[in-house]
Amino acid sequence: MVPKKIAVVTGANRGIGFEITRQLAKKDIQVILTSRNKTKGLIAVQKLHEEEGLEVVFHQLDVTDSISIQALIDFIKKEYERLDILVNNAGIMLDKNDSENASILKTKLDTIRKTMETNTYGPLAICQAFIPLMKKNNYGRIVNISSGMGQLEEMNGNYPGYRLSKVSLNALTKIFADELKEHDILINSMCPGWVRTDMGGPNATRSIEEGAETAVWLATLPSNSPSGGFFRDRNLIPW
Ligand SMILES: NC(=O)c1ccc[n+]([C@@H]2O[C@H](COP(=O)([O-])OP(=O)(O)OC[C@H]3O[C@@H](n4cnc5c(N)ncnc54)[C@H](OP(=O)(O)O)[C@@H]3O)[C@@H](O)[C@H]2O)c1
Repeated sequence: MVPKKIAVVTGANRGIGFEITRQLAKKDIQVILTSRNKTKGLIAVQKLHEEEGLEVVFHQLDVTDSISIQALIDFIKKEYERLDILVNNAGIMLDKNDSENASILKTKLDTIRKTMETNTYGPLAICQAFIPLMKKNNYGRIVNISSGMGQLEEMNGNYPGYRLSKVSLNALTKIFADELKEHDILINSMCPGWVRTDMGGPNATRSIEEGAETAVWLATLPSNSPSGGFFRDRNLIPW
């Protein structure tokens, strides 16, 4: 019998991460729903169980905390001895909470640093932790949830912390992809579009289901598929 694929989704207690978890679990993948807050994560797991009969496992993960990352990897090594899919979804957009911060002329360096910690260095540390485990089976699918706001081709003013963090996340995708090219470990960035979540707000143009769809597709790509790309709606988009 082929063992179930094991997936980790970060920031999965709400928004796009929760929906990616739901869609992966529906494909009979064993998802570890991670959340920095234990109570919120357990409520999310319970919701998937009660409403859809999905058996998702919870583990705490704060992507900015190296002790928390190590605890997750210890748990996965002990319970499953493998990791097949990693979705780096957790993200923050601090610039939007403070209009002063929204302009690069006024933004505080501390805002940029904090944003980079979550949106860029978190995924970097998590990739460093999990890729050795993926290499053991020569299999891995990594999806970095980026944003059109990190696209150099369409770079505009405002939200500098968020934009810089997603440009850098995209660079990480390319750097890892090159170093992994001898392996069946594919890593891609994707933009979910403007999605109705707490971050996107109620006026966003896309449903959460639409926002999650391309990430799930990338998380389940067959071998010899693209790696080191930037996607929206299953299509390559410019960096
Ligand atoms: N919504 C959009 O229109 C849109 C567009 C482009 C890209 N994106 C990207 O899509 C991803 C998901 O966004 P969303 O719209 O679903 O946002 P959201 O509703 O604000 O959810 C963000 C998630 O990230 C978690 N998180 C934040 N900091 C964390 C940390 N240090 N450790 C672990 N989890 C952490 C949050 O946990 P808490 O509940 O504990 O805060 C929450 O679960 C983000 O990377 C975002 O940049 C979104």
